[in-house]
Amino acid sequence: MSKNNDYIPALSLRFLTPFFDFIQKWIVRDVRYKTLLIEQAHIQPGQRVLDLGCGTGTLAIMAKQSQPKAEVLGLDADPEMLKNAHIKRDEQKLDVKFDVGFTNELPYPDASFDRVLSSIMIHHLKTPDKEKTAREVFRVLKPGGELHIIDFGKPTTLYGKILGPFLHKFEEANDNIDGKLPEIFGAPGLKTQIVGHFKTFFGDLAFLSGKK
Ligand SMILES: C[S@@+](CC[C@H](N)C(=O)[O-])C[C@H]1O[C@@H](n2cnc3c(N)ncnc32)[C@H](O)[C@@H]1O
Repeated sequence: MSKNNDYIPALSLRFLTPFFDFIQKWIVRDVRYKTLLIEQAHIQPGQRVLDLGCGTGTLAIMAKQSQPKAEVLGLDADPEMLKNAHIKRDEQKLDVKFDVGFTNELPYPDASFDRVLSSIMIHHLKTPDKEKTAREVFRVLKPGGELHIIDFGKPTTLYGKILGPFLHKFEEANDNIDGKLPEIFGAPGLKTQIVGHFKTFFGDLAFLSGKK
């Protein structure tokens, strides 16, 4: 793993990390859009699924619950977030593996996943890291494999458009708000498209799908 790699913690400020699950569950109410993302991914028995930037493992755990015969792995740069992922997985007695790592240098062989999922993580990456991550996603997907992302997208509601200039102040979110994710994740060879939208208090989210 590169020593130069760094990452933005889940809620930007490290001292907020212990409150991440509480905020996600009760304020963001993340289960609503994570459920839709899992429906979009149509995970089949026997498939290998990777959750990129899995944080405390909510999406990976939901993926495993939705298709117990899939092999599900989560990867995150933050060991503190993964501690909670381990606790939640063990409480539910689920066979989900969590790895520490960076999305721009995935520790997995070529063509080793049928599905790559990611929830509200891509806006943590500057443009060059998004591009490296896109190349890594393409590399680890099997032919016919699919990418499914939910993240900030080009605003589609008046409220989202009002919030846009504020989100633009965060360099990492610019590509999202400018609607560039399909282009960035399509560049290595995936066929990408925006397949849905989801309105939140924090801004307009978009569902992206890509196929190798
Ligand atoms: C807002 S949280 C979302 C967590 C989870 N996907 C969810 O929706 O609950 C973003 C996560 O991305 C992780 N992250 C940020 N940059 C990363 C990188 N370059 N590689 C791997 N993980 C990264 C953070 O540690 C954090 O856990």
